[in-house]
Amino acid sequence: MREIKNGEVILQSRKYITSKTDLSGHITYTNDYFCSVSGYSKDELIGKNHNIIRHPDMPKIIFKFMWERLNRGQGIYAYVKNSTKDGLYYWVIADVEVVAKKGKKMGYYSFRSKANQKGIEQIAKVYELLCEKEREGGMALSAETLNKFLANKNMSYDDYINHLMEGGGKLKIWYSFLKKLLSF
Ligand SMILES: Cc1cc2nc3c(=O)[nH]c(=O)nc-3n(C[C@H](O)[C@H](O)[C@H](O)COP(=O)(O)O)c2cc1C
Repeated sequence: MREIKNGEVILQSRKYITSKTDLSGHITYTNDYFCSVSGYSKDELIGKNHNIIRHPDMPKIIFKFMWERLNRGQGIYAYVKNSTKDGLYYWVIADVEVVAKKGKKMGYYSFRSKANQKGIEQIAKVYELLCEKEREGGMALSAETLNKFLANKNMSYDDYINHLMEGGGKLKIWYSFLKKLLSF
């Protein structure tokens, strides 16, 4: 049973949404909690591009930035608003990483959990601004806006996400422990 408030699926603490993709972002694995939150069955998800759950409030520039990092072999943490099959949404803090075997890139995986409310409130405003800039001047303008926003804060993207995550360091340690336990 999902807890729903004003169109938002409220995630359970200490429950994780995980998935794996091939190198082009097509889903190759999902856990059960992903299915129960998104409303899709495994059969509906496997083989689909991960953008099946993309929410229109997510700025394009965030995914561009994410893919640039993954292409360089680096992982990324991001606040992501996702859509469910039945038109609801949910917020996660996603850790997206590269799966490599003997130095060869095999695909990607993501590990996500409930995002903190304070972080959501702040990032939602930033995403709203970036989407507005994308409508106005495309991704070039939203990239410029994001860079200016971070420069004004004197923070890198990672610093800013860490700051939003409040006890972010602890969450990262917890994620890496769970990933080892679940052999991701
Ligand atoms: C491992 C992995 C997990 C992803 N998880 C999500 C996700 O939860 N939500 C999402 O919208 N996109 C996710 N993406 C990114 C999508 O593949 C896609 O780039 C994004 O939805 C933008 O789609 P679009 O370019 O068609 O607009 C993920 C990608 C990878 C590699």
